[in-house]
Amino acid sequence: MIHFSHVYKTYSGSVQALKNIDLYIDKGEFVFLTGPSGAGKSTLFKMISAFDRPCSGEVTVGEYNMNSISSSQVPFLRRKIGVVYQDFKLLKSSTVFENIALPLKVRGDGDNYIRDRVGEMLEHVGLSFKRDTFPQFLSGGEQQRVAIARALVHHPGILIADEPTGNLDPHLSEEIMDLLDKANAQGTTVFVATHDHEMVKRRNKRVVQINNGNIEKEFGGLDV
Ligand SMILES: Nc1ncnc2c1ncn2[C@@H]1O[C@H](COP(=O)(O)OP(=O)(O)O)[C@@H](O)[C@H]1O
Ligand SMILES: [Mg+2]
Repeated sequence: MIHFSHVYKTYSGSVQALKNIDLYIDKGEFVFLTGPSGAGKSTLFKMISAFDRPCSGEVTVGEYNMNSISSSQVPFLRRKIGVVYQDFKLLKSSTVFENIALPLKVRGDGDNYIRDRVGEMLEHVGLSFKRDTFPQFLSGGEQQRVAIARALVHHPGILIADEPTGNLDPHLSEEIMDLLDKANAQGTTVFVATHDHEMVKRRNKRVVQINNGNIEKEFGGLDV
């Protein structure tokens, strides 16, 4: 489903953000990407959602080849991917409902479908009672739950989460991870960057560890 083959990414100023990355993630897997700040985690994620391209090597996501994807294909690729960030990235001037509805609006879904599907997602993340609230009135954990609902509302095959619990207390982090686990149990391929080692240990999943743009170590998951 996600395949990196000999991938290099060098930014201007000769920062080698990724060096010879080989990685295969199968449909339905749950994988943690760990590594210190600056290791290349966000860069690797940007390759998957076509926010950036490799300098050499090949990245494929489903039927899309990131080396040759055209700008008109990018929106279709992105419909197959949900993305969650550390800082939530909710629209401040939109309500919880409107934030979650956004991917469906962009896709041109009808109002009735949007109302029902967003209602379902609100229930799923336990925030039905906040549907008309603006993000600034939500706690961090609630904001991240809205972001997850928005990332999953259009049934993407892949969910990538870049340090989704980086701004949250430990017990809220567990809630967020439980939601990602649930999405995975429903068939979504989930790829999560984190440097929370304790959480990674507790969850017992496949772990890909990167440092200085290199995959240093892989363990867990199907190999155990
Ligand atoms: N747009 C960019 N321009 C130049 N350097 C970048 C850019 N994005 C990331 N980098 C550099 O690439 C390296 C990896 O960064 P990043 O992927 O953000 O790491 P992580 O997410 O693991 O903290 C760092 O040295 C960072 O400074
Ligand atoms: Mg990062």
